[in-house]
Amino acid sequence: MVAYRSKVVERIELPARERRERALEEAGYNVFELPSEDVYIDLLTDSGTGAMSDAQWAALMRGDESYAGSRSFDELESAVAEVMGFSRVVPTHQGRGAENVLYGALLSDGDVVPNNTHFDTTRAHVANQGADPVDCPVAGARDPTADGEFKGNFSLERAREVVDDVGAERVPLVIQTITNNSAAGQPVSVENTRQVREFADRIDATFVIDACRFAENAAFVRRREDEFADYAIDEIAREQLRHADAVVMSGKKDGLANAGGFVATDDADLFERCKQRAILYEGFPTYGGMSGRDVAAMAVGLREAVEEGYVTDRLEEIQAFADLLEDAGVPVYTPPGGHAVYLDAGAALPHLDAADFPGQALVCELYREGGVRGVELGSFAFPDTDRPELVRLAVPRRTYHGEHFEHVADTAAAVLEKRESVSGLEVVSEPANPELRHFTAALAPL
Ligand code: F0G
Repeated sequence: MVAYRSKVVERIELPARERRERALEEAGYNVFELPSEDVYIDLLTDSGTGAMSDAQWAALMRGDESYAGSRSFDELESAVAEVMGFSRVVPTHQGRGAENVLYGALLSDGDVVPNNTHFDTTRAHVANQGADPVDCPVAGARDPTADGEFKGNFSLERAREVVDDVGAERVPLVIQTITNNSAAGQPVSVENTRQVREFADRIDATFVIDACRFAENAAFVRRREDEFADYAIDEIAREQLRHADAVVMSGKKDGLANAGGFVATDDADLFERCKQRAILYEGFPTYGGMSGRDVAAMAVGLREAVEEGYVTDRLEEIQAFADLLEDAGVPVYTPPGGHAVYLDAGAALPHLDAADFPGQALVCELYREGGVRGVELGSFAFPDTDRPELVRLAVPRRTYHGEHFEHVADTAAAVLEKRESVSGLEVVSEPANPELRHFTAALAPL
């Protein structure tokens, strides 16, 4: 049994309804444009928004800011070796920096990359190398009501089709994302990882795991994959990660840090190539775009992320939050994933067509009703795809507690009570690049 008590507190305030109305209008009905001061419960992301432990704050004070040969880097190197099992580490400013470093070293024009589901920045970095990102989710991954213990798995069937279609020589890289953020944070089994390793070997491809939420994934594996019922979390993590040639990591998730990321590998040649790119894009390879103190805090965070009590508490917190919402009559994606509860906005607002952006309408109403900020992951964020109309309520680590989750559930229930009066939205201005429009586009109620 593990719990936390507060040593530092941060005041938050629910602004008056009129202020929320005005803030929403001024933000162009796009919650990325809201000032955080106007947000009461911020569930926009679990990335870099968590609370650090006293041990991490102590590590910050001891951070070594030396340009080269920093002791904080040594601490990171040993944490990565002991927790994740890789001997070589290239630090970067955050996860997407690691993606740029690694995918730039592995890809070239015309390549094709299967992934269980590409997260936005992964897709963009693969495409940025001239390669084609192809999602290979398993059946049911996009169905908010389908049963399944590992709905995040990589579909080997789909990947084989891709290879048959384009030829193995065009597929030099296979990625598996654990947990599968773009498939409702669903876990991936170790069995599936082993199969992807075999698949990559057969086509002579490099196998990379996006390990942003590797500890949450390991906690699911222990619960759901019989072979691992008696394993420690870090043992499961190493057993899963050892199949990969390299991992990309955002320290802002299961590094329990506010900044940072890295590439880790045992492959001396790949390490060298990544290091050279990191010098160009990130910084000298013992700090990689982070301050030494952030490197030190991330090293401590990685060890805390695989602590039994922490990660068990984490999964239970998400499950309890999903239960509260379900009890309040709010349709949620089931089973819940590891870092967020995803609402099924299509089912919540059935009178709205996809073209009216039911997910974004729900996001706006959650803010208007209770100062809650979530994020739309449906027709607004992903135009021209057949994804379900999901709204993600991501939970920052070690930050919110029961009363906050109750407030969110009460807010969602209040919105659903007057669902008929919720109108759809239309886009009134958008940036040139449609892939990133949800960050900056402005909308208006219909
Ligand atoms: N890979 C995955 C699976 C992610 O979820 C993220 C970030 C990244 C890579 C990039 O890492 O943000 O440190 O550069 N996900 C955040 C989110 C932003 O809200 O889901 P980063």
